[in-house]
Amino acid sequence: MRNLLVTGGAGFIGANFVQHMLQTYPDYRIVVFDKLTYAGNLNNLKPVADHPRYAFVQGDICDAAAVRSAIKQYDIDTIVNFAAETHVDRSILDPDAFVRTNVYGPYVLCEAAKDLRLERLHHISTDEVYGPIPSGRFREEDRFNPTSPYAAAKAGGELLVLSYFRTYNLPVTVTRGVNTYGPYQYPEKAIPLFVTNAIDDQPLPLYGDGSQVRDRLHALDHARAVDVVLHRGTLGEAYNVAADMEHTNIDVARRILRLLGKPETLIQPVADRPAHDVRYALDAGKLRALGWQPQIDFEQGLADTVRWYVENEWWWRPLKSGEYLEYYRRQYLERERTLAAEVLKS
Ligand code: NAD
Ligand code: DAU
Repeated sequence: MRNLLVTGGAGFIGANFVQHMLQTYPDYRIVVFDKLTYAGNLNNLKPVADHPRYAFVQGDICDAAAVRSAIKQYDIDTIVNFAAETHVDRSILDPDAFVRTNVYGPYVLCEAAKDLRLERLHHISTDEVYGPIPSGRFREEDRFNPTSPYAAAKAGGELLVLSYFRTYNLPVTVTRGVNTYGPYQYPEKAIPLFVTNAIDDQPLPLYGDGSQVRDRLHALDHARAVDVVLHRGTLGEAYNVAADMEHTNIDVARRILRLLGKPETLIQPVADRPAHDVRYALDAGKLRALGWQPQIDFEQGLADTVRWYVENEWWWRPLKSGEYLEYYRRQYLERERTLAAEVLKS
């Protein structure tokens, strides 16, 4: 493998993956193919912008002609697909783009990989395809039970990718990662939202009672997992990527406030997310058997991440304007009102 097309590489995990791969493999060329939606950001790729083995193409994974043209132009042999609409709350407000990018997009990539005889299509999936698990851990063969439009669309896209292995013998692999955090994460997701709000002494909107549990994986550990499956994974197989670092949302909010020296009174309970999954947890034994294990523990990873946001206001402050503020009002104003109404009723 030498010429990788990293779709969605201008997003959070994709950009961490691109930096990891350029540093790790001196003979790989990386071409990022990204639509640059609100979540895509060339500043995420600033550290590699002048790298001689990196190129950028702006394009939509649903645009078959654009995908094929990039593959031919750069003699691509491998696609790693990070491109997706990724925010659960936006999928509840407006599912349309999720169905298109997360289901039709992987189909377009499968067709291109099949027709142009690529060596590999690696698809990034999520723990959310399994749905909630109050106790225990899901294994790869467990049944899908997605509960949000985001998760359902991701499940559809992943199942299409796996079907291309069974039907056409397309060389595919899949990773299903848990909740990921780190530098360059768009400040709509809980951790960067909490950190950047706390820096500005703004409330941290906590859904419900904050008791929901997520396993927290650092973006670089997620990137290393994809690297391992690309090189050592079995074709046609999916691999869980778990950190085994489970924390409730309220615990994460408190840790962030402690790290920033801010008061817990900034935590503001708001109306819960519909169909809020109580806990996700995966068994990553299959991936660990390939030699991967997370290297960054949550305490250190969160402290480093908080410091990154403190030191890189140039990166996130411009994002919290325009469309973001419109989304923020839609997402949170009504939630606060609902909660206030509930309190008044009781
Ligand atoms: P992100 O929202 O930060 O980035 C998504 C990127 O995809 C952006 O650069 C965006 O411009 C691009 N994109 C969106 N639609 C596109 C299209 N139609 N064509 C081309 N590019 C398009 O997302 P992320 O958090 O980095 O997630 C990356 C992948 O990892 C996604 O597939 C997501 O489902 C999966 N995942 C994320 C997490 C997490 O906690 N963040 C965990 C497990 C799996
Ligand atoms: O688990 C993998 C998934 O992790 C990925 O597939 C998704 O792309 C990614 O967005 C993430 O989904 P979550 O819904 O778990 O992440 P989010 O940061 O949106 O929320 C984390 C938890 O925090 C969740 O239980 C909801 C809660 N939350 C979130 C926000 C945005 C709040 O309490 N308040 C908030 O304002």
